[in-house]
Amino acid sequence: MIVLGLESTCDETACALVEDGVRILGQTVSTQIDLHNMYGGVVPELACRRHIDVLIPVIREALQQAGRTLEDVDLIAASYGPGLIGAIMIGLTAGKSLALALDVPFIGVNHVEAHLYGAVMSARQDIPYPALGMVISGGHTALIEMEDVGVYTLLGQTRDDAIGEAFDKAAKLLDLPYPGGPQIEKLARQGDPSAYAFKPARVKDNPFAFSFSGLKTKVLYAVKGQNANPKSPSIIDEADRAHVAAAFQQAALGDLVSKAQQAVEAKNLRSVVVGGGVANNQRLRQMMQEAELGIPLFWPDPELTLDNAAMIAGLGYRHYELRGAGDSFDLEPQPRIAGW
Ligand code: KG4
Ligand code: ZN
Repeated sequence: MIVLGLESTCDETACALVEDGVRILGQTVSTQIDLHNMYGGVVPELACRRHIDVLIPVIREALQQAGRTLEDVDLIAASYGPGLIGAIMIGLTAGKSLALALDVPFIGVNHVEAHLYGAVMSARQDIPYPALGMVISGGHTALIEMEDVGVYTLLGQTRDDAIGEAFDKAAKLLDLPYPGGPQIEKLARQGDPSAYAFKPARVKDNPFAFSFSGLKTKVLYAVKGQNANPKSPSIIDEADRAHVAAAFQQAALGDLVSKAQQAVEAKNLRSVVVGGGVANNQRLRQMMQEAELGIPLFWPDPELTLDNAAMIAGLGYRHYELRGAGDSFDLEPQPRIAGW
């Protein structure tokens, strides 16, 4: 079964053709980083306009790469959320329109769930379940108990900033360009993580929940002075900037690793499945290895880590298979999706 997937929830416009949920025949991602860089974050109205401009060329390119035409497509999958409402609407409406025109079923995909499926798609072996799902992206941070694809229990999530968002905000305070995650990782390599005593926050009522906003404030005070505001000038030198980046990264990633470890032990989980942009971080991969969980770790392949449409097409196929039917065209774009 050939699935055409569409993704437009944030600042990437993407299309992919995936066969039987795993084999990527072609995929195109058009990123808007250039557009939003000068604002230090995504500007929704600009994101929507760019999605409209590039969506059809992106679809054409994915088809061309795959050496297929629209007539070869058996199912259309598009993300229906969570994300920026206007941005989601563009890919979702295009997906429904294509399905209607081609007379094939249409399926809406949860973007966050698709991030986890990116690692499932990349796995060269069967995933031992139950698994710990770790969603670590710019918009979400969650630990999930995964019985199988489509069967989840939320263990805990962030109460404020997502981990990628915390990296981006810390980077902004250090005058690094957007997206900040890779920049912090690079700068941190020259720093000493013990130079600053940053500690991740504990969330009292849930050992698997996260809170990163306090850490962000500690970075602010370290870079700009106690009780300073984000617009204040930096008061530290180059070496200290690297130390701040290293200490921030160590605290944020250390928090992820220790909560993941606790969850694996408490729930007797048999593998770890990681998804979302922060899975790109090599220091995290090293720290997860060093934690010696004694169970296999599944990471997404590089092209399935950041926002992409292959994970959407792949998961769309799996849901279609599970349900034996597509979604109604009434499916609305959803900026937030509650529950798992
Ligand atoms: O999954 P993603 O593409 O978008 C969302 O669905 O949110 O993730 C983007 C996020 C950004 O916050 C970015 O800074 C972060 O992933 N990121 C990283 C790294 N690469 C990307 N964070 C830390 N280290 C990295 N190497
Ligand atoms: Zn994403």
